[in-house]
Amino acid sequence: VTQKKLAVIGGDGIGPEVVDEGLKVLEAVAGSDAFAITRYDLGAAHWQRTGEVLSDETMASLAAADVILLGAVGAAPGATDVPSGLLERGLLLKLRFAFDHYVNLRPSRLFPGVETPLSDAVVGGREVDFVVVREGTEGLYCGNGGTFRGGTPHEVGTEVSINTAYGVERVVRDAFERATRRRNKLTLVHKHNVLVYAGGLWRRIFESVAEEYPQVSTDYLHVDAATIFLATDPARFDVIVTDNLFGDILTDLAAAVTGGIGLAASGNINPSGAFPSMFEPVHGSAPDIAGKGLADPTATILSVALLLEHVGLLDEAARVERAVLADITARTPGTKRSTSEIGDAIAAQVCDEVAAKV
Ligand code: NAD
Ligand code: IPM
Ligand code: MN
Repeated sequence: VTQKKLAVIGGDGIGPEVVDEGLKVLEAVAGSDAFAITRYDLGAAHWQRTGEVLSDETMASLAAADVILLGAVGAAPGATDVPSGLLERGLLLKLRFAFDHYVNLRPSRLFPGVETPLSDAVVGGREVDFVVVREGTEGLYCGNGGTFRGGTPHEVGTEVSINTAYGVERVVRDAFERATRRRNKLTLVHKHNVLVYAGGLWRRIFESVAEEYPQVSTDYLHVDAATIFLATDPARFDVIVTDNLFGDILTDLAAAVTGGIGLAASGNINPSGAFPSMFEPVHGSAPDIAGKGLADPTATILSVALLLEHVGLLDEAARVERAVLADITARTPGTKRSTSEIGDAIAAQVCDEVAAKV
């Protein structure tokens, strides 16, 4: 068995805290030899110390990894010592773009017994289990914008959304393929009633690819209406495909209705395998709770399960998922465990299961 090269970027705030628990569970399930781990010290502190966000050498080194695990980067939303966007654009988005992570995969599942703001009437005994396929390399995230008349009352700021036929078609195809491996249902979310050019492109490509997948039933929602259904009838969704910004917003909402942002995992996937894919919790650096042991590491641990699946360690991935399921369904609402207590408990679950097997 060849060792996989795993690059680990803890990052800022709770990032390093949750990543430590992810690695704890990874080692519990796969042993210490399956992955050769290299840790990268990147983020706000590294930038403050060196003036560098992500050097070319570090980029080249990361490119040689098989897979990347990232915690989170970014300062507090109100911070003034780190320019907003510096780390998000210069580190996180740089990696997503350079490594062509066009499938930003964000699964949501409401596990039994998990606290949700949804009422029983909304969940109604139906299973809430869907995945958002968020486009990861285009849209409003491209940095295609600018500003002029700065310093005057007529200052202008623009960000123009880039949508290419190539980029839309490849992510739409990926979503159709995923739907065939799930419940054969795919929803396109956009806003073609207003964004007639970009939305029109998405719609035409979606409808034309759909002809190749007669077994997949399709529908369409404008993004505003999609937020209604995520809150009132999330069980209706199987696979959702959408653009970069809509996907960002919908997946925080999806997390909130399925047990909270502390449980939401993601994969930034380059399906061709030409570049390393990157796994990370959906949440950010949570400066409000950083350094206090209050962060829930479950999202990172579930991201580790996605990582294991990606590198073909399917049994290990399933074991982590079962351990998380066992742990979170046994949680008592109102009782708080620390970040490392949750990591320890899930790692112990994984080991119990491994022991029970032999
Ligand atoms: P956030 O996700 O960091 O925090 C939002 C809220 O969720 C906070 O109240 C936080 O305490 C809570 N929260 C987040 N993760 C949690 C966890 N694991 N357990 C318990 N509670 C958790 O979003 P934000 O405040 O908008 O962003 C903070 C910084 O993180 C910003 O600089 C932002 O740019 C960055 N960010 C980075 C990533 C990433 O690296 N992938 C993702 C989102 C935001
Ligand atoms: C996420 C984050 C990022 C995004 C930011 C930090 C660039 O919110 O991973 O969801 O918008 O994609
Ligand atoms: Mn986000």
